[in-house]
Amino acid sequence: MSQKPKIIVSAPLPADLRERVAAVCEIIDVPVGQNPAEAVPASVRPEVAGMVCTVRTRVDQALLDAFPALTVSSNFAVGFDNVDIEAATRRKVLICNTPGVLDGAVADVMIGLMLCLARNLVAGDAFVRSGAWTKGAFALTTDIRGKTLGLLGMGRIGKVVARTAQAFDMKVIYHNRREDPSVEGLAAYVGRDELFKSSDVLSVHIPLSAETRHSVGKREFGLMKPTAYLINTARGPVLDEAALIEALRAGTIAGAGLDVMEQEPLPPSSPLCELPNVVLQAHVGSATHETRRAMIDLAAANLLDALGGKTPQAMVNP
Ligand code: DGY
Repeated sequence: MSQKPKIIVSAPLPADLRERVAAVCEIIDVPVGQNPAEAVPASVRPEVAGMVCTVRTRVDQALLDAFPALTVSSNFAVGFDNVDIEAATRRKVLICNTPGVLDGAVADVMIGLMLCLARNLVAGDAFVRSGAWTKGAFALTTDIRGKTLGLLGMGRIGKVVARTAQAFDMKVIYHNRREDPSVEGLAAYVGRDELFKSSDVLSVHIPLSAETRHSVGKREFGLMKPTAYLINTARGPVLDEAALIEALRAGTIAGAGLDVMEQEPLPPSSPLCELPNVVLQAHVGSATHETRRAMIDLAAANLLDALGGKTPQAMVNP
């Protein structure tokens, strides 16, 4: 019988990393998004000590009950809204994540969505391809330079966005649970309502929790300027999507750039796909070769450290 600890891998592990992990663990592969409690035979479940998974795996009480020997679950993501943290902590299962290594990539998608919206770049591409340009000039668009960018949340990603926005000569304001002295000179702290009222572009950078679910809705859209754009690269359910669709249809706000939605993958029947003032992406904030590699390296290192009795670099519930 193998002395190596058994681990579930339900995340894309590059071949060289897989070799390193397999040298010290017995890997049980579970396709991404499949419930490990259904994929792993009942006879093996009590022997599983660790898991690395994407946010598509629900780490809830039922999963914890199915794997009684689990000591660590390492998320291949910075977000951990797929995990019942209270249940995991009660069961003394360590939850790890991948902060820091994806900030730039997510910030880049936020900036890209902002430029697409303000300069109407997606429609501009279609305008050229369709031949419409031969019949007349493209409609004028909007400057972002000199405008106010509001950040709801000032964590690691918010800070990179703020620094990048400075290079676009934008004024940056933010609202957070508390004022952050480390961003003095970079962004100005304002009250929550003031953030929605004053922003020309409002970007969401808060995690999804019971407290933040649907925390941006009809009331907040009503506070925004009719010329303002809303951008979400955090988690879809932070926004009340039905209220957003209503606000976009009514012209309460000018447009939205969304990398995340309440339902993912977004069904093409969603009204969001019909709205011309929306730019959509397929939850690709961290989806570059370099960033995903850094994330899986960190997720695997967290798992191996925890199994080896070392303190992992990134833990959610130490
Ligand atoms: C993250 O790391 O949280 C990304 O959004 C991937 O889900």
